[in-house]
Amino acid sequence: MEKSKALLDTLWKRGREFLGVEYPILGGAMSWISEAKLVSAISNAGAFGVIAGGNMPPEKLLDEVKKTYSLTDKPFGVNLITIAPNFRKNLDNMLKIEHPYIVFAGGLPPRDAVTQVKQTHSKLICFAPNVSIAEMLVHIGADALVIEGSEAGGHIGPVSTSVLAEQILPTIRKVPVFAAGGIATGRLMMHFLMMGASGVQLGTRFAVSEESIAHPNFKDILIKAKAKDAVPTAQFDPRLPVIPVRALINGSTRDFNTLQLGLIQQMERSVISAREAAEELEKFWIGGLRKAVIDGDVERGSLMAGQSVGLVDKIEPVADIIASMIADAIDEADKIMETTCAD
Ligand SMILES: Cc1cc2nc3c(=O)[nH]c(=O)nc-3n(C[C@H](O)[C@H](O)[C@H](O)COP(=O)(O)O)c2cc1C
Repeated sequence: MEKSKALLDTLWKRGREFLGVEYPILGGAMSWISEAKLVSAISNAGAFGVIAGGNMPPEKLLDEVKKTYSLTDKPFGVNLITIAPNFRKNLDNMLKIEHPYIVFAGGLPPRDAVTQVKQTHSKLICFAPNVSIAEMLVHIGADALVIEGSEAGGHIGPVSTSVLAEQILPTIRKVPVFAAGGIATGRLMMHFLMMGASGVQLGTRFAVSEESIAHPNFKDILIKAKAKDAVPTAQFDPRLPVIPVRALINGSTRDFNTLQLGLIQQMERSVISAREAAEELEKFWIGGLRKAVIDGDVERGSLMAGQSVGLVDKIEPVADIIASMIADAIDEADKIMETTCAD
C-alpha cells in the first residue's frame, strides 16, 4: 500500500506540478455541462476542472469564468474550440483577464493563436491526434498535450487511446501528456500513468456526477447504458466530411443521418458548398446536446458519451469519484506488485 502510493506520487508528479493540483485528473470540457458548478467542484476536490468555452458567447464565457473564480481559488482550465465562431474574441478575453490555463480543441490550432498565448504567462494545452502533430505542437509552443482516443464521448478522432498512448507517450518527453477517452477507473488510470502519461482526462464519469448540471433524464440514461451503446456517427459521402461524434443511439441519431443525406443532396444540386454543409452538421450537435443535457429530451437530444459509459453505473459526488480513482489506482499497483513478488 505505501509502496503503491509512493509509486502513484512519482508517476503523476509532473502532471501535479504542471497543473498545480493535488490530483492530475482533468475534468474534460463538455459543452453545456462543464460550467462553473461542475468545474469548481472538480477543482475544489483537488483535480482540474475545465470550462467548455468553445461554443459560449464571449459575455457568457467571461461570466462563467468569473463565477468559477468566486467558487474556487484552485486552478482550472478554459477550453476554446479553434473552429468556433467566437474563438478569437474568447481567446482575447481569456488572455486579457490573464487566465492561467487555456486548452485548444477542435483541430490544429492556428499558429498565431499559439504565439498569442505564448506571449503571456498562460499555459497552453493542445490535443494531439498523432505523433507528428504532437511533435509539431510541442515545437510551436504547446506546454502540455492531451491524447484523446476514439473511445471518448463527443467529437472523436480515428485512433484508440491505447494505440495513441503507445505511439505518443514514449516519443513526447518534453511536455506532460494526459490520456483521455474510455478512462473512468483508477485501474485504467494507473496503467496509462505507468505507460508515461502525466495524468488522465475524464468526461463521461463527471457528466453523471452529482454536481453536473445535466438533466436527471440525461444522467439516468447514461448510467443505464452499456459500452456498446455509445457509437460513432456514420459518414455517407466522402465529399461531405463528417467529424465522427460518439453518442448513445436514439432519435437524434436518425435526425443526424436524415440531415446529412439532405445536405448531400443539396451539395449535388450545388445549393450549398461542402463547407456550409459541414457547418450545418456542427450546428446540429450544439443544439442537439443542449436539448438532451438542459431540456432532458433524451429521445431527440444528443446523448454524447464515451465507451466509458459502460464503466459508470451510479451518480456520485465529484469528491467520491476522485477518491475512488485514487483508491483503485493504488489497489491496482498493489496487485501488480503482489503478482510480481509472488514469483
Ligand atoms: C457530453 C460530452 C460533451 C463534450 N464536449 C466537449 C467539448 O465541448 N470540447 C471538448 O474539447 N471535448 C468535449 N468532450 C470530450 C471530453 O472533454 C473528454 O475528453 C471525453 O469525454 C473523454 O472520454 P470519456 O467520456 O470516455 O471519459 C465532450 C464529451 C462528452 C461526453
